[in-house]
Amino acid sequence: MERAYYVTTPIYYISGNPHIGHAYTSIAADVLARTARANGPAFALTGTDEHGQKVANAATAAGMSPHAYVDSLVPRWHALLEKYDAQFDDFIRTTEPRHQTACVKVFEQLKASGDVYLGKYEGWYCTNDETFWLESKLIDGRCPNPECRRPVEWLSEDSWFFALSRYRDRLIAYFKANPKFLRPQSVYNEMMVTLEGGLDDLSISRTNFDWGIPLPGGGVMYVWFDALLNYITAIGWEHDTEQFKTLWPASVQLVGKEIARFHTLIWPAILWALGLPAPDAVFAHGWITLEGEKMSKSLGNVIDPFALADEYGADSVRYFLLREAPFGSDFSFSIEKLRMRHNSDLGNDLGNLLRRSLAMLDKYRSGLVPAASESRLGERFADLGASVRERVGNMQFREALDEIWNLITALNREIEEKKPWTLHKEGLDVKLDAVLYDLCEGLRWIAILLYPFIPSKANEIWRQLGLRDTPSIPWEEHLQWGGLAAQTQTNGGDALFPRIDPPVPA
Ligand code: MSP
Repeated sequence: MERAYYVTTPIYYISGNPHIGHAYTSIAADVLARTARANGPAFALTGTDEHGQKVANAATAAGMSPHAYVDSLVPRWHALLEKYDAQFDDFIRTTEPRHQTACVKVFEQLKASGDVYLGKYEGWYCTNDETFWLESKLIDGRCPNPECRRPVEWLSEDSWFFALSRYRDRLIAYFKANPKFLRPQSVYNEMMVTLEGGLDDLSISRTNFDWGIPLPGGGVMYVWFDALLNYITAIGWEHDTEQFKTLWPASVQLVGKEIARFHTLIWPAILWALGLPAPDAVFAHGWITLEGEKMSKSLGNVIDPFALADEYGADSVRYFLLREAPFGSDFSFSIEKLRMRHNSDLGNDLGNLLRRSLAMLDKYRSGLVPAASESRLGERFADLGASVRERVGNMQFREALDEIWNLITALNREIEEKKPWTLHKEGLDVKLDAVLYDLCEGLRWIAILLYPFIPSKANEIWRQLGLRDTPSIPWEEHLQWGGLAAQTQTNGGDALFPRIDPPVPA
């Protein structure tokens, strides 16, 4: 069976409300999946991380059982994907039986192979914060959390360990042999430093709370161990080996840079212990920041993704997030910049191009696409599909959009330079047909290429061009200049991106 392009997002902590940082990763994964899907089989996975003490505490505070509590929260996460048109093939919840059964099987298998062993989990423990602290972090022998500062106690309990240290040399060798396994380079370098400093075995069981996957013999699985396994439990590691074979190893796993360590040091080791290959690639993207700080629930500086999409349109936000900053760098968010991108790139460059092109076609040719003719533009952009695809595959979303914009700019220039209204006035029909054809054909290409980024607006361009179905069609075959049939009846319509003015100061 043909291997599919398999892309994953982290599974999001279910408690609290989704913010624009969460949407960022999901949108990027959606762009990758849509690009791949137009060209072959693809599978995108996301989901929610639902265990752990914090969730249990929040449930108690809400007067609910943990199960009822997580069930009440999950619709918000589905709604976020829907709001942003992010299409996932599966959504895994770590409280689902398919996940739990497989996690226990992993545990048993690793116990049998000796990669999981019983040891002692020891350290300075703050009961209030439910956290182990390194001795070096304590302040006057007390909990270093400024809001706590209570005395800590020495705790020693039996715990299951994963023999992570065993895999250090293999990880170093793997990193060296696969310099593109982890991108960007800055995160790769950081992980190499950690690896060279050594790796401790990882405690993977907890006994001080019970909201987790129960382990045979008592205790629950450490939440990160359970969470990482979602990437294989969702696709059938335990229950659907056929599907599993077509999807694993993942083509790319997207994560925020703060969790690169879990995905590139611990995760490959777990996979190897199970006899599975590491993912092809992990990409650690930057943070969305607001006034220099990471946007996060705990800092409270979050932008509500629902309100944002209602005001600016999901496609404008999608475009902005991927166009404004390179995907591996931090991204300083501002509404003003979003409005500029919406009005200028999308409204002026693209929206006006569509409106003017179809209005001229309507006026001079009753909205019917003229016959194709030789085109220099076609020659100039012959490789555009291949290069956009390559850039998207390398997570260079911004550069991919820049390339698509070169075509948009070239089409706008055609109008300015060839002046179809003059050609019409002078009766130069062959020349006029050639320009009108190129404009429509160029817009067809743009709809195909922009579909992964702004799916609903690309569909609208497609519809206004009078084309059937959707622009999600194989690129190589359909990005041939001249593909648009003569006599296609276009239906120019509403502005694609109506202008949004800044709020009037009170
Ligand atoms: N549950 C863990 C991940 C387990 S994966 C096996 C977790 N969840 S989280 O809810 O905190 O979400 C983490 C992910 O959300 C980040 O890795 C990133 O993809 C995204 N983001 C959360 N805040 C973000 C920003 N401020 N900026 C960009 N992405 C952000 O960690």
